[in-house]
Amino acid sequence: MSRLLIIGCGGVAGVAIAKCCQRSDVFTEICIASRTKSKCDAVKEKLQGTTSTVITTAQVNADSKEELVALINSYKPQAVLNLALPYQDLTIMDACLETKVDYIDTANYEPEDTGEPVWRKEYEKRCKEKGFTAYFDYSYQWAYDKKFKDAGITALLGTGFDPGVTSVFTAYAKKHYFDEIHYVDILDCNGGDHGYPFATNFNPEINLREVSANGSYWENGHWVETKPMEIKREFDFAQVGKKDMYLLHHEEIESLAKNYPEIKRIRFFMTFGQSYLTHMNCLENVGMLSTEPVMYEGKEIVPIQFLKALLPDPASLGPRTVGKTNIGCIFTGIKDGKEKSIYIYNVCDHQECYKEVGSQAVSYTTGVPAMIGASLVLQGIWKKPGVYNVEEFDPDPYMDALNKYGLPWVVDENPALVE
Ligand SMILES: NC(=O)c1ccc[n+]([C@@H]2O[C@H](COP(=O)([O-])OP(=O)(O)OC[C@H]3O[C@@H](n4cnc5c(N)ncnc54)[C@H](OP(=O)(O)O)[C@@H]3O)[C@@H](O)[C@H]2O)c1
Repeated sequence: MSRLLIIGCGGVAGVAIAKCCQRSDVFTEICIASRTKSKCDAVKEKLQGTTSTVITTAQVNADSKEELVALINSYKPQAVLNLALPYQDLTIMDACLETKVDYIDTANYEPEDTGEPVWRKEYEKRCKEKGFTAYFDYSYQWAYDKKFKDAGITALLGTGFDPGVTSVFTAYAKKHYFDEIHYVDILDCNGGDHGYPFATNFNPEINLREVSANGSYWENGHWVETKPMEIKREFDFAQVGKKDMYLLHHEEIESLAKNYPEIKRIRFFMTFGQSYLTHMNCLENVGMLSTEPVMYEGKEIVPIQFLKALLPDPASLGPRTVGKTNIGCIFTGIKDGKEKSIYIYNVCDHQECYKEVGSQAVSYTTGVPAMIGASLVLQGIWKKPGVYNVEEFDPDPYMDALNKYGLPWVVDENPALVE
C-alpha cells in the first residue's frame, strides 16, 4: 500500500493526478491538497468511480511549514509530490524533513518576492560568482543534501519534461550511446495553436518571468549570458515543421553541467511565434511583468499577478489547442573514438492529451513525468537518502515508463544539428 500527498491542483497536477489514478497498483491512496480546496474536490469528483485509487482532499497553505507538517502528520504519506509553485519548494522540503517523508518536484526554487533584501543580497553575490542572472537556481535545494541524507529520505528534483525528461534523455544517451558527451542542445517546440492573441501555456507568472529574462548557456566550464531573445535559430521539427527558436536560460543546464563535467556546451532553445513576442515586449515595456508591488487606488497590487488574472487560465486552453509539441535533445560526443550525434525526442498531440485527461500537451508533458518520478520513488526503484536531480538515477525504468504512460520517444541517429 502506498500513499502520496500531492500539493497544488493546477494544470500540471490535474494531469499527474489523472495518471496516478491510471496506476492504482502503485498509487493506492492519494491526497490532493492545495490553497483552493474546491479545485481539489472538483478533480476528485471527476476521477473517483473511474479508479480504485482512494482520493481524499485537503486545504493547505504551502507557504506555511506548520500547516504542511500538520497535514503530513495526519495523512501519513510515504512521499510528497510538490506541484504548487517554485515559491513553495523550500517550505515543503522543510516539512518533509521534519516528518521524514520523501520529496518530489518539477521546478527549482525561486522566491516570490525578488526584491526581498536578504534574498536579493545573496542573489547579487551569486550573479557575480556564477555569471547568470536568472532568479532561480539549484543552490537552495542542493544545500539540503546533507540534511536529507541524515534524515534517510530522498528528494527527487525536477521530474517534469524540461527539466526532467530532457535530463533523463541525457543520462540515457550517456549510458547507451556515448563514452563522452560533448555538446547538448535541448529543443522545446510547442507547435500548438490555442486561437487567443496571447496566452501562456502554464502559470503566466512563472512563464513570463522565464521568457523575459536574460538567456544563458554553459560553455567550457562557465556561463555565457545573452540578452533576452538575442540568439535565434530556425529548426525543422518532426511532425511540426519549421519554427523560430530562441536561446533561454533553463534550470537543467545547471544540474547537467554539474553532473556531466565532460560536456563542453549546453544550450536550451524554445520556440516562440512573433505574436507572442510582440505581446510580451509590449507588456514588459509598460511594466506589466514587474513583480514589484505598486499602489493602485489605495491598494497594493503586483503587476504580473494582476496580468495573470486577465489572461486565459492555462487549464482552460485544453479544448481549444490544436497541434503538437516536440521536445528533445541533440547530443554530440564520442563513442569508440568516433564522433557521433543523436537526437532523442517526444512528439505529443494537444488534442490527444485533451481526449485522454482533459488538458493540453504542455501540462500533459509535465504531469506524466511527475507521476513517473513519484512512482519510482514510491516503489523504491529511485530511492536513496539525499537530494538528487533525475539524471543521477538509472534512466532505463523512467524511459520504459515514458513509452508506457503516454510520452513515447524516438532516437534519430542522423539528426540535423543546430548551428
Ligand atoms: N519541469 C517542467 O517541465 C515544468 C513545466 C511546466 C510547469 N512546471 C512547474 O509545475 C508547477 C505547477 O505548474 P502549473 O502550470 O500547474 O501551475 P498552476 O496551474 O498555477 O497551479 C499551481 C497550483 O499550486 C497552488 N498553489 C499556489 N500557491 C500555493 C500555496 N501557497 N499553497 C498551496 N497551494 C498553492 C495553486 O492554487 P490555486 O488554485 O489556489 O491558485 C494551484 O493549484 C510549477 O512549479 C511549474 O514551474 C514544470
